Amino acid sequence: MIELTGVSRTFRTRAGDIEALRAIDLTVAEGEFLAVIGRSGCGKSTLLRLVAGLLRPTEGRVSVGGAPVARPRRDVALMFQRPALLPWRSVLGNVLLPLEIHGQAHRIKQSAGERERARALLDSVGLAGFHKRLPHELSGGMQQRVALCRALVQRPRVLLMDEPFSALDALTREELAGQLQQVHMEVRPTTIFVTHSIQEAVLLADRVAVLGARPGRVRRIIAVDIPRPRSFGHNAHLADVTARVAELTDLLHATDAPMKALLDSGPAG
Ligand SMILES: Nc1ncnc2c1ncn2[C@@H]1O[C@H](COP(=O)(O)OP(=O)(O)OP(=O)(O)O)[C@@H](O)[C@H]1O
Ligand SMILES: [Mg+2]
Repeated sequence: MIELTGVSRTFRTRAGDIEALRAIDLTVAEGEFLAVIGRSGCGKSTLLRLVAGLLRPTEGRVSVGGAPVARPRRDVALMFQRPALLPWRSVLGNVLLPLEIHGQAHRIKQSAGERERARALLDSVGLAGFHKRLPHELSGGMQQRVALCRALVQRPRVLLMDEPFSALDALTREELAGQLQQVHMEVRPTTIFVTHSIQEAVLLADRVAVLGARPGRVRRIIAVDIPRPRSFGHNAHLADVTARVAELTDLLHATDAPMKALLDSGPAG
């Protein structure tokens, strides 16, 4: 569904070139959930922006559904760390926005079915009764749920998420991860999920790609073959979850080795 072949991306800046990604080969199968973890600055957001068509690779090819990515597409939805809701629009109005934009572009009138779907999505993430509220009347976690509904309302084939829960408190974060797991089990969009949380990656992903420090390259890909629904509470698979978390923690620290060596050999004090 998503294919990156020999993808590199360099940014030209006044201070010189920054090589963000180098020679990335990555395939995400239809309906698969891939988590991407790696140190800050290793190119995770750049990778998502390439798949979203917001950025062109310097080298290599990116394709979605067999077609090269040239621009943002309607069937590829994005979700960021901040919800970015329109403050003057109601919760429901925000969720319907992508449909309106698309409808206007194609002169299609919004159908009752689409409004119904938007309402059902909001209800499914616990926002029944909040449809008419304005964004500022909601908590951060609730706003991010609205953003999730907005991303899902167009029935995307691909869902790209850039640290979508990292601005939230730990409990809300867990709750949203649980809801995302539910959504993914039901709708199965092909998903790339960038996170700093190994726990989140293990809870949600079919596979976890570990990127090495800049220029970002795929260091390892770990399969998480634990049956769903998964949880961190006491359950039959707790040992498997713990083992995967430990494995990824070690790997992530290993990608840090050059930095550590530098620090160790630096001047004391
Ligand atoms: N538009 C840009 N112009 C110049 N350099 C950029 C641009 N976007 C990203 N970079 C550089 O590319 C590298 C990778 O950035 P990117 O945002 O992809 O990292 P990241 O893995 O998402 O980091 P974080 O975990 O902090 O979000 C960084 O060194 C960054 O400074
Ligand atoms: Mg980022």
